[in-house]
Amino acid sequence: MKPTEIQLNSPSGLKLDLTNYGATLTRLQIPDKHGVLTDVVIGLANVEEYTSEDYKKYNFCLGATIGRYAGRISGGGFSIGENFYELSHQDGVQLHGGKHSLDQQLWLVDQMEEGDTPFVLFSLKSNAGDNGYPGNLNLFAKYQLENNTLKITYTATTDAPTVINLTNHAYFNLDGQGTTHGNELYVNASRYLEVDERLVPTGRILNVEDTPYDYTEKTALHFKGHYGLDTPFILEEGKIKASLYAKHSGIQMNVTTNQPAMVLFTPQDFGGLKVRNSELFQGFPAICFECQNFPDAPNQPHFPSALLLPGETYRNEMSYQFEIK
Ligand code: GLA
Repeated sequence: MKPTEIQLNSPSGLKLDLTNYGATLTRLQIPDKHGVLTDVVIGLANVEEYTSEDYKKYNFCLGATIGRYAGRISGGGFSIGENFYELSHQDGVQLHGGKHSLDQQLWLVDQMEEGDTPFVLFSLKSNAGDNGYPGNLNLFAKYQLENNTLKITYTATTDAPTVINLTNHAYFNLDGQGTTHGNELYVNASRYLEVDERLVPTGRILNVEDTPYDYTEKTALHFKGHYGLDTPFILEEGKIKASLYAKHSGIQMNVTTNQPAMVLFTPQDFGGLKVRNSELFQGFPAICFECQNFPDAPNQPHFPSALLLPGETYRNEMSYQFEIK
């Protein structure tokens, strides 16, 4: 089956491109301060490329829906009660739900609506045993445009106890080119999770004060002397959980979510991968705002529970609101 391409347009001028392959956001265009449409999300030149073996090797998951468990799970698996579930893993660590996970499945287009608040609802069934996870899951990914806001909502139900942590892995560059170096970043988090050399949380919760992770006041992103962010932040009360401002386009993005954490990821580059308009980008080309539960929560009892039981509905809501400044 070939991946489908879908475009949603909002009356205020947002253009969103999606594919059912991985329920992936492939492009998002926003009018900048001059009214010029700016491509603010990193993607590939065409939808077929997302399915290529060459692309999968890079594991960037551009704009994809990530799960069953976003981020890293350590110890080769996790326990629910007396039962240990071994996951597919490399040296004891599983990343982003393992190989051929949700980001590489053809989701169904369940529902679609045009109009003032156009949306598409993708659905997928993930069978018990998938990469080692228990429970047959019914998954839904909804993308909706509302005025200047992109809303992404993930929901899931299960027929047996399991763990779940979904997120979207869009890489933003609000100038549509160049670098994120110098962009103004705000993160509503005074604490973050310490990670080890495998990027697995150690369990220690640290204060951002006097570290390169202090974005409690709007701060210009700078990468001098460190390799960038790949950091789980613990979110605090308050509607806006993070914001990013790029001065060339004048575009500001405000991120909200109902999730307890956000992983910020700033790759140095895309390696040999040829992304769309790759010639326009420089070092530290983009930043991900991955709204989610804490990585490795199934193995760390003091982290928020990631358990999903039959009869419950998992719900992850995130929104990206755009304004011109
Ligand atoms: C997350 C991880 C990173 C990296 C990217 C791309 O952000 O934390 O270490 O693996 O996904 O897959």
